[in-house]
Amino acid sequence: MWLRCTSKCVFASLSRSYNNVLSRSFNIAAFMPEAAGFEGVSDRAALQEFSLSNSDHFWAAVARHRLTWISPFHTVQDCDLSRGRIKWFEGGKLNVSVNCLDRHVHTCPEKVALIWERDEPGSEVKVTYRSLLDMTCRLGNLLRRRGVKKGDCVTIYMPPCPLAVASMLACARIGAAHNVVFAGFSAEALAERIRDAQSSTVITVNQGVRGGRVIELKKTVDTAVEGCPSVKQVFVAMRTENPVVMTDRDVSMEEEMKLEDAVCEPAAMDSEDVLFLLYTSGSTGKPKGLVHTQAGYLLYALLTHRYVFSYHDGDVFGCVADIGWITGHSYSVYGPLANGGTTVLFESTPVYPNPGRYWEMVQRLRINQFYGAPTAIRLLLKYGDHWVHKYDCSTLKTLGSVGEPINTEAWEWYHRVVGDGRCPVVDTWWQTETGGICIAPRPSDPDAEIVPGMAMRPFFGMKPVLVDGEGKLLTSNNTSGPLCLAQPWPGMARTIHNNHQRFIETYCQPYPGYFFTGDGAHRSEEGYYQITGRLDDVINVSGHRLGTAEIEDVVNHCPAVAESAVIGYSHDVKGQAVYAFVVLKKEVGVPEEDLSQLLKDMVSKSIAKYACPDQIQFVQRLPKTRSGKIMRRVLRKVVEQDLGGLGDLSTLDDPAAVQEIVQGHQDLCSGERHSPLKVHAS
Ligand code: WTA
Repeated sequence: MWLRCTSKCVFASLSRSYNNVLSRSFNIAAFMPEAAGFEGVSDRAALQEFSLSNSDHFWAAVARHRLTWISPFHTVQDCDLSRGRIKWFEGGKLNVSVNCLDRHVHTCPEKVALIWERDEPGSEVKVTYRSLLDMTCRLGNLLRRRGVKKGDCVTIYMPPCPLAVASMLACARIGAAHNVVFAGFSAEALAERIRDAQSSTVITVNQGVRGGRVIELKKTVDTAVEGCPSVKQVFVAMRTENPVVMTDRDVSMEEEMKLEDAVCEPAAMDSEDVLFLLYTSGSTGKPKGLVHTQAGYLLYALLTHRYVFSYHDGDVFGCVADIGWITGHSYSVYGPLANGGTTVLFESTPVYPNPGRYWEMVQRLRINQFYGAPTAIRLLLKYGDHWVHKYDCSTLKTLGSVGEPINTEAWEWYHRVVGDGRCPVVDTWWQTETGGICIAPRPSDPDAEIVPGMAMRPFFGMKPVLVDGEGKLLTSNNTSGPLCLAQPWPGMARTIHNNHQRFIETYCQPYPGYFFTGDGAHRSEEGYYQITGRLDDVINVSGHRLGTAEIEDVVNHCPAVAESAVIGYSHDVKGQAVYAFVVLKKEVGVPEEDLSQLLKDMVSKSIAKYACPDQIQFVQRLPKTRSGKIMRRVLRKVVEQDLGGLGDLSTLDDPAAVQEIVQGHQDLCSGERHSPLKVHAS
């Protein structure tokens, strides 16, 4: 016992002095070359402090060092959060595709830029920087020849594949904005986004392939564009060999690309020109098209990619998010390519053809950083450790998590089983609005502690704050509140397409002077941040954002429905699942089971499959305040079976409504098939 204690103490003191040596020998120029010129900065803590107190200096140095400019910027930032004015690097001109391609083609043309991990395991396709530039230029020329101009917005409805990346970069090359719509969205949801973006060009594939199944993406586009008079042409790439019906509007993409020149003059874009729109859910029924611009977004994506994941030249970066989400934009495409890296495009699912898919891929592609979603980790851990142990994952150096809170059990499994206890797990918190990672355990000292399930530390230049109900700053530690960001950063969204007022009301007005994230957070005794979840009516199903109002809008469209209230409830694989309370009109005369199926089909058709309610409970009335507001808090407690937590019901118009709902919920649960507490491992 004494011996053990002594050896432990000796080890502790040895490792302390080793750490001292390490921190004394910290080489700032090796860590971040441009920081060598920052006065008084000799360690990471000082660098973090410098990035906040000398934010202009910090971002200017990084922007000059890491981006290739056509002409230099004259103003680092011109931001006023209280008025929603955000401008970075004004006066500067650059081209994002040149930053992602040409400059790497000059130095290492044969380096692999993309590894397309196709649905069929073992059939990956590697694309070099030279050939990705070739594809991008031909496509850029094709778009130009067919009338796409600077400032237009092209909608891309494609699964992750090299031509999807080339489409994004071709838009960037000629100065058009892109609007990637997740290829799991329905025709109606796609149409709504095409209309809002006013696209006249859509790019798609004949069919998608996912989990061994063929998905008729071109047909979905055909249905969508029927309701979009703005669409003049649809480019169709061939993912499978099956021909699809082509109309006068359709263009065979690969065939036409062959006819184009492989050199395409890049447009000189202003830093603040639009790079892309990306639609995401908010608390109203209408998704919002967040707008990201050129230089600031690219810079923030590349810097976070480099430092949060400790990405080094030669590494293979494996982000398994779909390109239809912001994670795919920033960490499958823009961040890695701007850094001249090798990035994986994952087309499949975590369980196809079996639950070893990710780890077999890690072994085969020699992936160094793996970035995925907690929902997949929770699903895979249920299948057992042997699916991981079958494969050699020793190339892994960093594991990342994104999109929703990661529970301790999933975090521990990821760390212990997937990372063999060797790899830091970075729980990265950010949003479509933030453009890139804002809070994550790394960068920090290599041996700095990482607390399971905590995003912990702000990135360079980020200043998270917590506020109270009145908007006053909470300055002490060990406290919780709405999470705001107090300082502008280059990667933040600039506006909502066609609705700057909504941007201001959602993000800038709730806490004037701060950017409001919509999330709550806890700051621990040590000053680390832990995200506690959304504070608005946005839910998160398998890492996908959904507005409860979006689903209610669809359900309320059913002629049999009088009104509805949708909430999210905990689900041990999906994180949250959708629960709908529905009040029917009198004398509908259709069995509830049929109606339930009908409503689910309507939601799939109008939004996407993942938005489908898992549970639908028909009720006589909803709990409302006397002023007619639905008390969702009460509904949440009923579904969580926390009847003790129902709280004060005296403000309800009709307290008896609650009893009825509780009873109805219990009846629904008692039918085993319906139990919301049951796990659906699919
Ligand atoms: C949630 C995804 C806890 C959060 C990049 C945020 C998280 C929303 C985390 C954004 C995390 C994202 N821990 N919650 N590490 N990361 N979220 O726009 O509620 O699809 O507001 O961007 O996901 O989702 P979005």
